Amino acid sequence: MDKIVLAGGNPLQGRLRISGAKNAVLAILCATILLREEIVLENVPDISDVQVMSGIINSLGAATVWEEPEVLRVKPPASAAEAEAPYHMVKKLRASNLLLGPMLTRFGDVRVSLPGGCNIGVRPMDLHFKGLAGLGATLLLDHGSVRGRTDGRLTGARIYLDFPSVGATENIMMAASLAEGQTLIENVAKEPEVVDLANFLNAMGARVRGAGTDVIKIDGVTELKGGGRYAIIPDRIEAGTFMVAAAATGGDVTVENVIPLHLEPLSAKLREAGAVVREEGDSLRVSVDNPLRSIDVKTMPYPGFPTDMQSQVMALLTTVPGTSVIVENIFENRFMIADELKRMGGRIKVEGRMAVIEGVPGLYGAQVKATDLRAGAALLVAGLMAAGETEIGNAHFIDRGYHRLEEKLISLGARVWRNT
Ligand code: EPZ
Repeated sequence: MDKIVLAGGNPLQGRLRISGAKNAVLAILCATILLREEIVLENVPDISDVQVMSGIINSLGAATVWEEPEVLRVKPPASAAEAEAPYHMVKKLRASNLLLGPMLTRFGDVRVSLPGGCNIGVRPMDLHFKGLAGLGATLLLDHGSVRGRTDGRLTGARIYLDFPSVGATENIMMAASLAEGQTLIENVAKEPEVVDLANFLNAMGARVRGAGTDVIKIDGVTELKGGGRYAIIPDRIEAGTFMVAAAATGGDVTVENVIPLHLEPLSAKLREAGAVVREEGDSLRVSVDNPLRSIDVKTMPYPGFPTDMQSQVMALLTTVPGTSVIVENIFENRFMIADELKRMGGRIKVEGRMAVIEGVPGLYGAQVKATDLRAGAALLVAGLMAAGETEIGNAHFIDRGYHRLEEKLISLGARVWRNT
């Protein structure tokens, strides 16, 4: 069942509730390692990345159980029973690198297989290592794994990030939460998922200030109790994907349970292209009253345009009259989707970090393959627009980040099913 088939051409119409944010819950699941008492997480999407991450922290001594759909109870590990997450799990999920900070500062010992690069780029970890070493950890690369150790408690420090890396910001913030003294991290990532992690840590007893600005200040505490419940923020990228699909099919879709501010970079671009985006409390409604027009897009760290929406917007722009230009400033290899869209009739020229899209009257269905999660999402958008049937292979990539995908699409009038 690793193929998704779409019969395109229907404008998407209706409303749907957006699930919790994958990139917030993955970091927060790693942060549960820091806790003494169990915690109940709400608004958790039951996507494959969450299933894998749950398996990984369980292999380190935690115990996770679904109390009800989207409500996950996590009992943190009592000791460093296991300091190493199994390779067969870690290799599936790059975000397992977020175990470094929590394991180091809680147990003083960690061994994590280096998550390989993936299709969108090399994904180095130099900024993670620089920050954790700055707090006093010793990190050794050893046969494809990173071994981290500390002699006693980590010590607060002043750390400057050469690039506002989301993962490095999160790893250092988690490590510093139990360090001795104050840590100052400068030039940090400001993504909403970083802020949600900071809010979670503070709810558990940490002292983190400034998340969402360029500087985060952490006053280390001796333990994080845990206990209680915490609700994950909505997934701005899932919401954005459905908003782009609505515009691409000339439909009228309302995404519910979102934080409109988190989607402002995308909403602004959709409005620039001529779509109508209305904010209605914790919902956003996207419709198209007139033909869309070409736009230029540059991906940047938040609050710039999100790289995780770049492929989906490229799909949309294939049938927008005129010439559109996309510049991908975050990952060095995130244009692979262009080849698949060209097989569906798109006219795209890629030069390094720049892609030039010439609008065509329409796409036609074809057999295509997802190369990564968001490229898969972009093929969904293209398949919904295209005349005829589109079969998307490697659908497991899409299942990593989209909860109950077909159900949601069908509720909007899409004709979509799975194939073996
Ligand atoms: C997070 O990845 C997200 N993943 C990604 O979402 C997202 O695309 C990315 O942030 C950027 O917003 C999760 O949160 C689990 P980075 P992360 O460190 O933390 C370079 C999705 O589809 N860099 O901000 O790995 C790196 O090479 C995924 O949901 C270094 O040079 O992203 C890249 O060019 C894909 N050295 C840039 O920074 C480092 O030590 C951004 O990476 C770390 C990163």
